[in-house]
Amino acid sequence: MITLHKVDQLRRQLSSWRLAGQRIALVPTMGNLHVGHLRLVERAKMLADRVIVTIFVNPLQFGAGEDFASYPRTLDEDRRKLAEYPTDLVFAPSVAEVYPRAQEEQTRVEVPGLSNILCGQTRPGHFVGVATVVCKLFNMTQPDVAVFGEKDFQQLLVIRRMVEDLQIPVEIVGMATVREPDGLAMSSRNGYLTPEQRAVAPAIYAVMSRIAERLRAGERDYAALESSAGRALQDAGLRPDYFQIRRVEDLLPPGGDDKELVILVAAYLGSARLIDNRTVTL
Ligand code: PAJ
Repeated sequence: MITLHKVDQLRRQLSSWRLAGQRIALVPTMGNLHVGHLRLVERAKMLADRVIVTIFVNPLQFGAGEDFASYPRTLDEDRRKLAEYPTDLVFAPSVAEVYPRAQEEQTRVEVPGLSNILCGQTRPGHFVGVATVVCKLFNMTQPDVAVFGEKDFQQLLVIRRMVEDLQIPVEIVGMATVREPDGLAMSSRNGYLTPEQRAVAPAIYAVMSRIAERLRAGERDYAALESSAGRALQDAGLRPDYFQIRRVEDLLPPGGDDKELVILVAAYLGSARLIDNRTVTL
């Protein structure tokens, strides 16, 4: 497993793999890796000869007052974990390597509409930061395939739309969310939780599951379901940002004919903002 920090070194390594006719898969991450990330690596290896994992805490996707400074940076530990998985190359660039110019002068990629709802409404600019860095990582690595988690459902849709709109020649593969035994979606931000908060956090999955059951049982008053879920989260000790039932394909509110839905949740617990989702087929 090679670790590189510079784009020119990365390009040299990649061109030798490409010359040998090897297929390349990319798994972009911000590090502090958990089993959810490592599953993406396993999947990537099934899809390609070589797997690149990028570790970069992207300042452009954090808003003022968010956790960019405190986001856990654990490169040595991450490298130890990745060495046990089929990783060929870890690319961990510095901020200056990815953004040589001042951030406000950086060319940006914006996926309109999708970027401004749900998490994009609470975190203005977040998805421009995500789309920009993922586009840059695609240009640096030019992968045949890239693997992302459904845990970040809106992010996955933003990336699929960007790839389609910019005609980037990469296949995007989504992976199911990996959960703790009590249902909590694995996340680097779970590390912010105190033991008491950690005991409360599985309520997110429990509430989503109850709403999914009610939808499958035939309830169709989405607004009533959403507000009852919001109250249940509050009663459990969370501060919901949103709880929404949307259409899978574009995250807009569903109409009467829509059968493929997704429940999306964001909620604060102490200093952590946790997100989760699950799809429901009616
Ligand atoms: P990060 O939060 O580190 O996540 C990296 C990848 O792991 C994303 O595709 C995310 O959806 C996936 N992932 C995280 N938790 C998961 C879980 N419990 N189960 C399955 N997959 C999971 O998402 C980002 O970083 C950044 O926004 C990034 C795309 C790297 C751009 O900076």
